Amino acid sequence: MNFTTALLDWYRRQARKLPWRETKDPYAIWVSEVMLQQTQVDTVIPYYQRFMERFPSLQALAEADEAEVLKYWEGLGYYRRARLLLQGVREVQAKYGGNIPSKPQLLKALPGVGDYMAGSIASIAFNLPVAAVDGNVSRVISRILAIEDDPSRAPVRRRITAWVQERFPQREAGDYTQALMELGALVCTPKRPRCSDCPVLPFCKASGNDPEQYPVKRKKAEVPEERRIVLMITWNGRRLLVQRPNTGLMAGFWEYPHIEAAAGDDAQRLAEEWAERNLGERLNFRFLRKMTHVYSHLRWNLEIYQAVREETGDCPATIGRWFSPEEEARLSRVAFVRKLSRQNP
Ligand code: ADE
Repeated sequence: MNFTTALLDWYRRQARKLPWRETKDPYAIWVSEVMLQQTQVDTVIPYYQRFMERFPSLQALAEADEAEVLKYWEGLGYYRRARLLLQGVREVQAKYGGNIPSKPQLLKALPGVGDYMAGSIASIAFNLPVAAVDGNVSRVISRILAIEDDPSRAPVRRRITAWVQERFPQREAGDYTQALMELGALVCTPKRPRCSDCPVLPFCKASGNDPEQYPVKRKKAEVPEERRIVLMITWNGRRLLVQRPNTGLMAGFWEYPHIEAAAGDDAQRLAEEWAERNLGERLNFRFLRKMTHVYSHLRWNLEIYQAVREETGDCPATIGRWFSPEEEARLSRVAFVRKLSRQNP
């Protein structure tokens, strides 16, 4: 048995009887899908029934006041969708004489109708083979194919849609669409999927391999962190700044010298060694404070140390230059240096 047949057999045996499954009226399907897009089936049922009693036809809704429509929507939330539904219905009334088009391209031109809504109306109401991929369906297919990527990403979504599209039955497109949703709602649930009840278990790559790990969430890009020791060295009312290289991050900007440190390194010692190497003398560094600075793709955990050079004799600095506060303020400086100099003039 192929995937589609196995799924459809199961659906005919196990599907819940839901009010919008008793009809092929495209208007009723449209209303139900808008409600179901945002809300659980159990919650939707009474709203759907009240709504359809009050607005039993597309024409009845098209002629209704928005305020009254919203009243019937009260409690469902996402009122924008109700407004868009009303606009869409009015457009169908005006443009198509009240007949909802079946072509996905025409459906998608209506307010509030996107890929999912067009697919669900075309397939459920008109039995056309047009895929409708919602959260349930993308979870089901992510597991069947063991997709190691986030289905909210466009290429993954396209892959899932194509896979569903290729497996439409000859007839009963609507049952196939709803069967995929039903499988997601009843068996292939987000937590603790009931794999032993699954009609398409033999087709599933995730079964027996922790299906809950799918769908995969996009990993947050991990921002690399660096511990850096920043040296604020003063001599004769001037401060030492070094210039960044001409390429790369903040090219050519000025900053206080800083040293990359590993987790266990003794910051004080690193600072002293740096001064000996670059200024040729031993300085007394005092810890000032910590601060973090985040660039788009890098996080610096900064530890600020200060030292004052008391000697009046010349102090060549091979790697930088000494600037008075006024001179310093005129330089292009990196952000954390501007902040530090403001706080510690
Ligand atoms: N969720 C979205 N559409 C649905 C439908 N037609 N039946 C059950 N759940 C759904």
